[in-house]
Amino acid sequence: MSRRAFVVSRGLEYFTESELQMQIGAGRNAWPAAILKELVDNALDASELAGATPEIDVTITKEGFRVRDNGPGIPTPVIEQSLDYNVRVSDKLGYVTPTRGRLGNALMVVWAAPFVASGESAIEVRTRGNLHRIRVGVDPLEQQPAIDLATTNGLPADGTEIRLGWPDSARACSH
Ligand SMILES: Nc1ncnc2c1ncn2[C@@H]1O[C@H](COP(=O)(O)OP(=O)(O)O)[C@@H](O)[C@H]1O
Ligand SMILES: [Mg+2]
Repeated sequence: MSRRAFVVSRGLEYFTESELQMQIGAGRNAWPAAILKELVDNALDASELAGATPEIDVTITKEGFRVRDNGPGIPTPVIEQSLDYNVRVSDKLGYVTPTRGRLGNALMVVWAAPFVASGESAIEVRTRGNLHRIRVGVDPLEQQPAIDLATTNGLPADGTEIRLGWPDSARACSH
């Protein structure tokens, strides 16, 4: 008799449904709401830090979600770090809780979730004058995350706008 150990490499922690379900603490039908909550929490945290009254705009379309805030924006190195799935940002192996800002790796979950839910990834972050186009996926041969980040600049530098492609067909079915 042979035994096989199934080991999920650290890099793929965010890229299988079961792993992501553990990270989010809920099944995939609840992911859109959980992801939007994390994005709104981040916007609240940011404006609180900046001492500004938060103005947050959430838009839901058939194609996906958009969250916009009037906070100080996300520095490019923070964006880059949030895409490094081989590094654990926090030692606290966090799970989503009803409190704010506990996950510590929310952006990593936010980027991965639409891909895991739909097989597609189309993310745009407009912040600090930059447009970051992000695609995440899995390299099937290497079994590692495959990340693409393209940054261009020249946008107005106010606030943060995050767009997540999330096809209607990959969301909860309520009928
Ligand atoms: N809307 C935002 N505006 C400004 N900074 C942001 C925003 N969203 C995320 N950030 C930055 O990205 C970092 C990582 O966010 P996240 O992964 O949610 O972890 P956490 O919120 O626990 O720090 C935050 O600490 C913050 O510096
Ligand atoms: Mg957060």
